[in-house]
Amino acid sequence: MQVSVLQLDDISILKNILSWLLAKFIICNNMIIIQKRQVKYRMNLFTIADLHLPLGANKPMDIFGGWDNYVERIEKNWKKLVNNDDTVVIGGDISWGISLSESKPDFEFINNLPGKKIILKGNHDYWWGTANKINEFLSENKFNTISILHNNCYSDGKIAVCGTRGWIYDGTGEKDLKVIAREASRLETSIKQAVDCGAVPIVFLHYPPVYAEYVCDEILEILKKYNIDNVYYGHIHGKGIYNTVAEYEGIKLKLVAADAIDFTPQYVSKCANFQKV
Ligand SMILES: [Fe+2]
Repeated sequence: MQVSVLQLDDISILKNILSWLLAKFIICNNMIIIQKRQVKYRMNLFTIADLHLPLGANKPMDIFGGWDNYVERIEKNWKKLVNNDDTVVIGGDISWGISLSESKPDFEFINNLPGKKIILKGNHDYWWGTANKINEFLSENKFNTISILHNNCYSDGKIAVCGTRGWIYDGTGEKDLKVIAREASRLETSIKQAVDCGAVPIVFLHYPPVYAEYVCDEILEILKKYNIDNVYYGHIHGKGIYNTVAEYEGIKLKLVAADAIDFTPQYVSKCANFQKV
């Protein structure tokens, strides 16, 4: 009888073949999402909005109450909580820079923080151009830990990061109606992609869908249509924090603007590796 002895290299190849055989393949949007069965949900999903980084534009927020040394505080708190395998969604108002080149030091700062980051647009992100331009900028500068949430979603096979900037308005001017229709449609596109992949959508917005007496019906309609349970948003600062609404018609709403959460990323869920859908 002939007995063959496997060498170390053979064993690792065998292990790889086994892990591929055991993997679950989820096909959606013409993409194949590979979810290895042995992957444990050991990674964490966090979120924080409104970093308002001033490193390229020299526009510090320290002049506002409670924002003293905020860049150092964000860095310290972030490093205490977030590991390199984790993911952090940054909900807009990221950098004071008015162009990608002016925002570059802020991106460098974010890229060097632990974890993968998924970013979305806030009302002060004047550097935000087309998705292609941002993606080019990120890859040219090797800011490899940063991806953008824009008409897409990121799924780990179980849950998905969905969202858009949103809108807040107090009138029904033609311009407002146009913007809100576009934002609602972007949100639906993002959520639908997650649902089509069988993932539970978690929604991240910059603007609150509900705030004090204000309700953004167009956004709320989409949230209800897809039975969204949890929404994280930013934009509200200072004393405005006291007018937030924690739950509306069964949807939990959480303000995560940096100054509302002591400049500390907030835990959202256990997760695995997210892939762009
Ligand atoms: Fe802000």
